[in-house]
Amino acid sequence: MSAMFNPATYAARRIRLVDQMGRGIAVIPTAPEAVRNADSHYPYRYDSHFHYLTGFDEPEAVLVLIAGSTPQAILFCREKNLEREIWDGYRHGPEAAKAEFGFDAAYPFAQLDEKLIELMGNQSALFHPVGHDAAWDARLLGLRGRVQEKARSGISAPNEIHDVRVLLDEMRLFKDRNELATMHRAATISAAAHVRAMRATRPGMMEYEIEAELLHEFRRNGAQSPAYTSIVAGGTNACVLHYVGNDMQLKDGDLLLIDAACEMDGYAADITRTFPVNGKFSAAQKDVYEMVLAAQAAAIAASRPGKHWNDPHDAALRVIAQGLIDFKLCSGTLDAVLESESYKRFYMHRTGHWLGMDVHDVGAYKVDSNWRALQPGMAFTVEPGCYIRPADDVPQELWNIGIRIEDNVIITEQGCEVLTKAAPKTVAAIEELMAG
Ligand code: GLY
Ligand code: MN
Ligand code: MN
Repeated sequence: MSAMFNPATYAARRIRLVDQMGRGIAVIPTAPEAVRNADSHYPYRYDSHFHYLTGFDEPEAVLVLIAGSTPQAILFCREKNLEREIWDGYRHGPEAAKAEFGFDAAYPFAQLDEKLIELMGNQSALFHPVGHDAAWDARLLGLRGRVQEKARSGISAPNEIHDVRVLLDEMRLFKDRNELATMHRAATISAAAHVRAMRATRPGMMEYEIEAELLHEFRRNGAQSPAYTSIVAGGTNACVLHYVGNDMQLKDGDLLLIDAACEMDGYAADITRTFPVNGKFSAAQKDVYEMVLAAQAAAIAASRPGKHWNDPHDAALRVIAQGLIDFKLCSGTLDAVLESESYKRFYMHRTGHWLGMDVHDVGAYKVDSNWRALQPGMAFTVEPGCYIRPADDVPQELWNIGIRIEDNVIITEQGCEVLTKAAPKTVAAIEELMAG
């Protein structure tokens, strides 16, 4: 539970969800614990949808919502267990969870099946994350079958099954005030980590030493973990988009691409910066870097109400495609390069994704097969790049240049706010920081 925990925030989200359901019952489990090896577990991370509606951090918990004129929010959670609490830490138990988190009722997790058979009776629709977890699908269908067996007593079972994520994804796409405050915090800590990494980097260091600087900055500011596996990619490694080995030596004259950010109280940041290992861009590195930076500026300028999801990508793409023509990496007119997609050899990913509780956050990118209109409260990344692998038809001074510049933006009434601007990104700002 975060310091800023306010049960009313979560209660309001639950009410918005049941209003949209109209009728029926929703069953939303949190994530299972995952074994790492033997009896050790991965650090526990709750399910984002479950946490969005509850603020409840413990594993083995399920939220049940009943829609209708007197909506109900019921939590199933682990019971108090003094023996387990000595080993693993505090458990709220149903009684304290009900009081602290503002549920209408709370029961031990072990009573879930028996209670659900009761609660599903005479509900016309069942909402749950259909297909997210095959074991939960089977369990809920089995319980529905148990309700169907009561037909002769006049009790009916839900005859409609809906994916509750259709409603929840849409809610989560628009960040509320509390979410924006947490995202600001995640972004600020992550930007400080990039500054720390730039200050620490010297030729001869290992990529993992720089990774350690990032982790240090995340954790010392209270972030619970990285939001995704950190990419610390020197030289040629920057051209491997999902490089996570982070175990090579940083060479004088190479660039270092870092894609790393923290998760703070359930919200991700997602920042990439690319800078010279020795603190000074070569002429060729600078040319490609400024092209990617210009592409990013064009994409950020297109990130505002009145634009659509694809506009920032298209804006970045035009700048990159023209740059590739100028560098003689692509040939033909701008329109021909865009049409043939020959730019994809050097820029093969999209310019962004929704950002929130999940680094690649939920929310539809298209509505009725049209790119979504950008609206205040939407949060996403703007992350153009250029990755040039050695090849006979590529000028040698461009070999192994891999650059990405990634920031996080929130659409506002007037345009957008860049949450991650504290991480330097102009050539001058980076060189000045690294010289200091
Ligand atoms: N770090 C993951 C991404 O940039 O999408
Ligand atoms: Mn990233
Ligand atoms: Mn990203």
